[in-house]
Amino acid sequence: MNPVQEFYNNPYFENLQETQPFLEYLAREEKEIRRNISGGRVLDIGCGNGRSTAILADVADKVIGIDLSERLLEQAKERLKDRKNVELYLENAKSTHFENDYFDCIVMLWNTFGNLYSARDKVFREAVRIVKPNRRIILSVFSENVLPAYSSMLAKNELTIEHQDENYVFLREGLVSKRFSEEKLREIYSNSPLGTKYEIKKLTDISYWCEVRCQKH
Ligand SMILES: C[S@@+](CC[C@H](N)C(=O)[O-])C[C@H]1O[C@@H](n2cnc3c(N)ncnc32)[C@H](O)[C@@H]1O
Repeated sequence: MNPVQEFYNNPYFENLQETQPFLEYLAREEKEIRRNISGGRVLDIGCGNGRSTAILADVADKVIGIDLSERLLEQAKERLKDRKNVELYLENAKSTHFENDYFDCIVMLWNTFGNLYSARDKVFREAVRIVKPNRRIILSVFSENVLPAYSSMLAKNELTIEHQDENYVFLREGLVSKRFSEEKLREIYSNSPLGTKYEIKKLTDISYWCEVRCQKH
């Protein structure tokens, strides 16, 4: 089990949602999902305990959530058991069972993209494979301003920063969390197989919403 998977298989994550400015970030993210996504088959990569999947299920025709934490996925199944348009799988986003060009939209929310660390390029490539041509991959991520609030939230939750640098926080408990400047996000997109039709906007001071239309040949 990798350290990030180990972190999400322990009961830390749920508490992290209960403080400001993260509540404001998640409220703005929800608003953006409701405004921006409508119909179609949507993949929620890193669906966790189903918080994001529940919102997506209101606006999409079908939502498929995948996650590598068995514990969080069980919570998602319980939360979403009455939603007829939801399917959930225990699966690593690096390599999925979905066929090529299967999804109308793929999302990674609540900084899931920032947790991927060494898996990031593989997950991006896999997302490109399974999204339909000219459809969107959407990321909601921490901005470069998140560090003070993030550090104090971690301290309140008795989580310990083992190491940090200008991009990453590494927790003793296993979580790796990256934050992104607009410039960094542009660099990621221009070095990816995604093409150049992307949009990056600030959600709150600590977060960005990024969409890219997948150019495939
Ligand atoms: C910050 S949580 C987000 C949960 C949910 N999307 C939300 O918005 O509430 C990140 C989730 O991504 C999952 N995750 C991390 N790496 C993954 C991978 N390679 N494949 C699938 N899930 C992954 C974690 O287990 C965790 O549940």
